[in-house]
Amino acid sequence: MSNSYFKIAVLPGDGIGPEVVSESIKVLDAVAEVFQCQFKYSYGLMGAEAIFKTGDPLPDETLKICKDSDAVLFGAIGDPVFDNNPEAKVRPEQGLLKLRKELGLYANIRPLKTFPSLIDKSPLKREIIEGTDIQIFRELVSGIYFGEKFTDPDGKYAYDVCKYSTEEIIPIAHMAFQEAEKRKKKLTLVDKANVLDTSRLWRKTCQKIASQYPDVQLEYLFVDNAAMQLILNPKQFDVILTENMFGDIISDEASVIGGSIGLLPSASIGEENALFEPIHGSYPQAKGKGIANPVASILSTAMMLDYLELPEAADKLRRAVEHAIENGYVTVDLNTEQHYSTSEVGSFIADYIKYSEKSYYNFENIKIGKSTIV
Ligand code: IPM
Ligand code: MG
Repeated sequence: MSNSYFKIAVLPGDGIGPEVVSESIKVLDAVAEVFQCQFKYSYGLMGAEAIFKTGDPLPDETLKICKDSDAVLFGAIGDPVFDNNPEAKVRPEQGLLKLRKELGLYANIRPLKTFPSLIDKSPLKREIIEGTDIQIFRELVSGIYFGEKFTDPDGKYAYDVCKYSTEEIIPIAHMAFQEAEKRKKKLTLVDKANVLDTSRLWRKTCQKIASQYPDVQLEYLFVDNAAMQLILNPKQFDVILTENMFGDIISDEASVIGGSIGLLPSASIGEENALFEPIHGSYPQAKGKGIANPVASILSTAMMLDYLELPEAADKLRRAVEHAIENGYVTVDLNTEQHYSTSEVGSFIADYIKYSEKSYYNFENIKIGKSTIV
């Protein structure tokens, strides 16, 4: 183990963000105990919460905390006050976008695997989704999200420019090729090269890089077709590489395969910084009700442990999550009849990390439908 002391910036954010992040902290504390490492948490404001308190969706202090940390753990962003008001000048999402840019988090990695016990939760058929294992690499700090934006003063027209340079494409393309090399050796570039110049630049750039990875088969798919293929036959994919906006859209679509968007983690990686967040949003309707699924945040924490070079801890955490799911210790999104609160699921996972099968929670009782919490 190269290091055993880590500075973690914690940005709980909006909606259910604080609830799910606090379960991740509970789980990290269990990891610290078992794997003899230390996490020092520094909390920062971001998103709607930050706007309400400071007027700024990403206060300088938060940015400083993040830059000084080894990794950032982030909850969720967004609030209906802003969603329902297109006139709002300051928006929570601007905080996250600025943070991604300032930290240079150019690669957003979104793994998608099905949990055997949850296959039937997906609206898609078992035979279509069983065994799906995809890694989506989404470019995160350029494209239409960050190009010039304009709304004319009369409110009659507006535009958002989509721009890419080869320097922005090359690093994430290498990362995706390297990942494909370690896996099933298939890389699918998702684009709209029949219409967009930026997509043609992605294709040419990836084609050039491909010669350095002779074992990897590079394929291309237009994004509209990719959206359809993901649902028709997700098992055809191994690693997907795509630009910012297409990646945003297809990763939400892909979450349907796993049965709940509440399961999917993500890592956003740059040269010097990294941020870990669930792919779900702030789910404001569930705020404070203790019903949010903490698994996506907890699995994002596992990705953080991998990044911090604590692979054993990361594996243990993933095994604990699998145990929770296999034993029916899940939130209401995964079982409407028998379910547990956000914090109960977090405690179960933390407990399993500490005590494995000897844990306080009794699996047999859970299976037959009796809660063991007294
Ligand atoms: C995501 C989210 C963000 C994005 C929003 C909240 C700005 O949808 O991380 O996928 O569009 O990137
Ligand atoms: Mg999104």
